[in-house]
Amino acid sequence: MPSTVLVGTQWGDEGKGKITDLIASDYDYVVRFQGGNNAGHTVVHGDTKLALHLMPSGVMYENCIPVIGNGVVVDPGALVKEIVVLQTQGISCERLKISCNAHIIMPYHKDLDGADEKRLGSNQIGTTKRGIGPCYQDKAARKGIRVQDLMDEHIFRLKVETALSQKNPILDKIYGLHTYTVDEICDEYLPFATILKPYMAETTQLLNDALRAGKNILFEGAQATMLDIDHGTYPYVTSSSCSAGGAAAGTGVGPMAFNKVIGIMKAYTTRVGGGPFPTEQLFPENGGEGEEAATGEKLCAVGHEYGVTTGRKRRCGWFDAVIGKYAVDVNGLTDIALTKLDVLSEFETIKVCVAYEHEGKRYDYLPMQQSVLFHAKPVYEEIPGWYGQDITECRTFEELPAAAQDYILHLEELVGANITMISVAPDREATIFRNWK
Ligand code: GDP
Ligand code: IMO
Ligand code: MG
Repeated sequence: MPSTVLVGTQWGDEGKGKITDLIASDYDYVVRFQGGNNAGHTVVHGDTKLALHLMPSGVMYENCIPVIGNGVVVDPGALVKEIVVLQTQGISCERLKISCNAHIIMPYHKDLDGADEKRLGSNQIGTTKRGIGPCYQDKAARKGIRVQDLMDEHIFRLKVETALSQKNPILDKIYGLHTYTVDEICDEYLPFATILKPYMAETTQLLNDALRAGKNILFEGAQATMLDIDHGTYPYVTSSSCSAGGAAAGTGVGPMAFNKVIGIMKAYTTRVGGGPFPTEQLFPENGGEGEEAATGEKLCAVGHEYGVTTGRKRRCGWFDAVIGKYAVDVNGLTDIALTKLDVLSEFETIKVCVAYEHEGKRYDYLPMQQSVLFHAKPVYEEIPGWYGQDITECRTFEELPAAAQDYILHLEELVGANITMISVAPDREATIFRNWK
């Protein structure tokens, strides 16, 4: 069993949690390498539905060690809360390991996230307001506070003091917000240190030793390729490297460790927050009318497209093969897991965007300029659906209606990688493996 990276290929919420959980029992370690509790990964086992934010989705399996890598930003309060919730549901978190080099989300990061969004007005990113951007900002500026700093009260106090000498004037003078005292923050955070100390580990060595011992590791991405700080629709992105390349930097294993890269691709597209989205079917409240508004509303209703972390209604649209192809390249995908195919059973015909058009020019690839992507019109192919045929019980490719098989084969051809898993309902059993190795 190889070491595998699993990433989102669109704008998040593709079903990474389901697929990670589905294959996690084959791995000895499941590792988060970026992002924080901005993620919302849903895992469904029968009647039990779990929403994971920071905890790697392999936590359910006793053979599997969940690891929070150095590239993750950790809100200690949120993590402690998640551990408690999982443990009250009978899921042991004892095996969890947290990198000492991961950065900590501080209270002022959350305040600044919200305040900065307000400042941007109609151009706001629509962040989750979990403090993710400001925390990565401090990391890059070499002003961050790390998990290891929680291990020593003296060091933690000093770092908080230094941080507040800069943050308090910003909070007060620029945003007119509440400022903090060192004691206030230490009183809140040091008790978390006591709870989290047993989980803190030298995860880079742990993972490299595991690789040497022939163990299998699954690197679980959060967010997605189009939200990647470098490769996404900047500035409407998150602040981390959510594509496959981030797995090496965010865990401390070399790039040769990975021999499988699975891209999770929804059979249509969704996006939460602002930014360009060429195939969006605008909701009436956002100016959509007629067939477009009806399609958007239907995708949202049938797909239950509401955010796991913030509860926001997700913007919805048709599958975008230009982005699919881009994600295959950026991540070097060896496999695709196509999810939520069942949602398309409600449509008589299905549209797929195969290119964009802007000012008389056709783009078969992602345009170089973001402003072009903002205004580009999708070029659609309209293909027959399998309207009204319930596919949620299908467990082999051959059991799928011919039109659904054709849709899958067509997407494979358009994006240029093999679709080796097809998900037809939220449950782990509702998955078709196809030439899966
Ligand atoms: P993630 O962030 O990529 O892990 O995805 P989310 O959990 O935020 O959103 C995916 C949603 O789709 C969750 O509610 C899943 O339970 C659900 N889901 C996953 N796969 C399927 C599928 O094949 N069909 C349907 N109908 N729902 C699915
Ligand atoms: P999962 O892992 C969908 C979006 C936010 C916003 C942008 C920046 O569940 O797929 P941030 O709080 O990260 O600074 O917000 O990124 N975003 C997500 N959208 N799924 C997610 O995670 C997301 N995490 C962040 O909506 O547009
Ligand atoms: Mg999600």
